Amino acid sequence: MENSCKSMITGLGFAVPEKILTNADLERIVDTSEEWIKARTGMSERHICDDSMATSDLSTEAAKKAMAMAGIKAKDLDIIIVATVTGDTPFPSTACFVQKNLGATRAAAFDISAACSGFLYGLTLANNFIATGAYKNILVIGAEILSKITDYTDRRTCVLFGDGAGAAIVQPSDGSRGIIRTYIKSDGRLTDLLYMPGGGSRHPASHETIDHRLHYLRMEGPEVFKAAVKAMGDAAVEVLKMAGMKSNQLALLIPHQANIRIIQATAKRIKLPMEKVFVNVDRYGNTSAASIPIALTEATEQGRLKRYDYCLLVSFGGGFTTGAVILRL
Ligand code: ACO
Repeated sequence: MENSCKSMITGLGFAVPEKILTNADLERIVDTSEEWIKARTGMSERHICDDSMATSDLSTEAAKKAMAMAGIKAKDLDIIIVATVTGDTPFPSTACFVQKNLGATRAAAFDISAACSGFLYGLTLANNFIATGAYKNILVIGAEILSKITDYTDRRTCVLFGDGAGAAIVQPSDGSRGIIRTYIKSDGRLTDLLYMPGGGSRHPASHETIDHRLHYLRMEGPEVFKAAVKAMGDAAVEVLKMAGMKSNQLALLIPHQANIRIIQATAKRIKLPMEKVFVNVDRYGNTSAASIPIALTEATEQGRLKRYDYCLLVSFGGGFTTGAVILRL
């Protein structure tokens, strides 16, 4: 199969808040233990925002770093896409707040809601926008402040999530490197496994929704775990097949950082040794849409990915949504 690329990532950056929440801190909040969290999830700590911070603030910081790396100015941006489930407000979009912060006056700005797969959905959109020939400079951000929708009285969920933002600049490619194949898929039958019930048109904010704690994320952990292992493996296999590639051609697998056991199962499914898998779930927890762009930025900064290396990004998230992208750096 011909693998000529239409678009490529030319800039990357991420931002996380300074404050760190450790497993030992969580032991003081809920009935849990450092050993349980480490063994069941692989997590040691996560970064958590203070009350004054909103998702557009972290997004803007990450975006500025990605733009500096790509060498482009705010006025050059054609499109700003923010993938998030924790936007500043239900409307307008967080992307419009980022646009204002950056002064990106020419851009069209909008959000997408695909939970932890949001960044890969955004990359897929950017790739297709560039393929039309009508757009040249696209900012894709995955950003979340999950701590603000996390119920810190529920030990089954509160140990898992962190805050952060990652950004990428996507521009036209000369064909030799960039986005090779994208795969996105959803299964709406699984909406009840992972969702936030309150604050939308089904249960608008009221005293009752507050009393019932409907403004917090809810998750059936073991069911999500099983669905995630299957969905991530299926997506990885499918995108490799679409690209006509074998996993031994990959320099690195960057999976969504939700749980070390899900990451290990995904690597095993495509027969990749863990040395070729990027893991930072220990330091950031699950940052949903921000997880893959943060990991991709760190992987390049650490020299784990070099020019012309092949890399597979794969995710799953609430919805259920699944995404996979093969990139040549
Ligand atoms: N500390 C101590 N014990 C705990 C904790 C905790 N924090 N949480 C649950 N337990 C207990 C349970 O009560 C249960 O006890 P019991 O046997 O006495 O009933 C026991 O530990 C086992 O609980 P399980 O839920 O079966 O544990 P499991 O091994 O499945 O691990 C986990 C739970 C980590 C949540 C796992 O199911 C998981 O990672 N699921 C996927 C989560 C995920 O990836 N979510 C993100 C989706 S992405 C997005 O869109 C945001």
